[in-house]
Amino acid sequence: MIFLHYRTAEQKIRELLLTHSASTALQKVVDVLYEGFEKYSWVGIYLVKGDMLVLGPWKGKQATEHTTIPFGRGVCGAAAKTGKTELVNDVSTDKRYLSCFHSTRSEIVVPIKKLHVVLGEIDIDSFRSAAFNRNDASFLEKVADMLSQHI
Ligand code: SME
Repeated sequence: MIFLHYRTAEQKIRELLLTHSASTALQKVVDVLYEGFEKYSWVGIYLVKGDMLVLGPWKGKQATEHTTIPFGRGVCGAAAKTGKTELVNDVSTDKRYLSCFHSTRSEIVVPIKKLHVVLGEIDIDSFRSAAFNRNDASFLEKVADMLSQHI
């Protein structure tokens, strides 16, 4: 497992977005996030279709049953509705949480926005409690910003 610092990962993502077409770039970004950070145990990108979130590229040990999520449902739907990053330190205490994997303890959802319109989101689960901090949030918000040009 390779451990990347946020800046290195950001640079890597910036480069791959310049060199790959939109269709392959999203999967490559997911791969960099999953492989670069051990605590990111499942990484997916949901894309907005109408008032639904539809799962796009993802990487993790298991597939999720939540491949479509209506706006407003779950942590993902909340982030899509408000356009704000959701950081859940303990999923067992968040009533909105839609369970995907028994191993998940914490989750972060970062909307991908263009001109304040939510186009999609980055959803990351961790097997660690409180795995995500403000550094993860600001790093992933930068990644989401870069992705907004490719959706
Ligand atoms: N836990 C999310 C659903 C997506 S899975 O984590 C992949 C939620 O509460 O919206």
